[in-house]
Amino acid sequence: MKRPQSALFDRLAAGSQLYAYPPESLRKLNELVKNKGRTLDVGCGDGTIPQAFDAPWVTGFDVSFRCAALARGRGVVSVVADAAGGFPYATDSFDTVYCVDVLHHLERRWRPVFDEVNRVLRPGGTLVIVEPDARNAFVRWTQAPDSPIRVAPCDNEPAIDPSDLLPLLQACGFEASCHSIHIEGEQVERSVFPLWQRLAKAPFTLLLSFLYRNVPNKFAIIVTKAGDTRGEVPAASRESAV
Ligand SMILES: C[S@@+](CC[C@H](N)C(=O)[O-])C[C@H]1O[C@@H](n2cnc3c(N)ncnc32)[C@H](O)[C@@H]1O
Repeated sequence: MKRPQSALFDRLAAGSQLYAYPPESLRKLNELVKNKGRTLDVGCGDGTIPQAFDAPWVTGFDVSFRCAALARGRGVVSVVADAAGGFPYATDSFDTVYCVDVLHHLERRWRPVFDEVNRVLRPGGTLVIVEPDARNAFVRWTQAPDSPIRVAPCDNEPAIDPSDLLPLLQACGFEASCHSIHIEGEQVERSVFPLWQRLAKAPFTLLLSFLYRNVPNKFAIIVTKAGDTRGEVPAASRESAV
């Protein structure tokens, strides 16, 4: 099934760039994991974020054909795939998986994504999830589907409260920790809304963004996949087996 996001992001990424991030925000995202190793970026957008990773090997995929093409243009090997479907990679093939600002597009169909991450991530590997934080009222109201001051381009991409994700990650057997983080980023194709709507919303969004300027706008969940002992003979048995 073709996702509505693919057409929307093909359109938003019609130029040469989808989002512009200040170097400080790219640095913060990069530093969430040291020693990344083989790295996958799920929903890689135009490739700006994975391009900034200090990793020996980075690949990505995106549901938007145009985003995957832009990411390839930035030197990030990228293909078109749906995060809620099967990932086009072999089992245990990554040390690190990033998923930045993608889960809120999936209408809470998160379990298939985590199952696939679990499959492609090597034992002991790391998953990073970064999402708009619903605990920040500015973020919540400008993302909410029915909000009169929605600025989010899709009509169903509400911000997420991390407490909705953590139990699911734990149920998948992951160990997860959650941190607040502030990431600046600007959609380059400014808006899907007509000018008059943007002007009408502006006083409210500007006031809210001022009031919430010191409240982090995102959360980062860092997840570790348990080390693998499958197929290993415990030390005591090894001794007795000799
Ligand atoms: C808000 S943008 C974030 C892009 C990039 N991760 C970043 O942070 O700059 C959301 C991205 O997720 C992609 N996306 C949305 N639904 C997806 C899905 N089901 N599978 C893969 N990518 C998806 C969109 O095409 C878009 O590139």
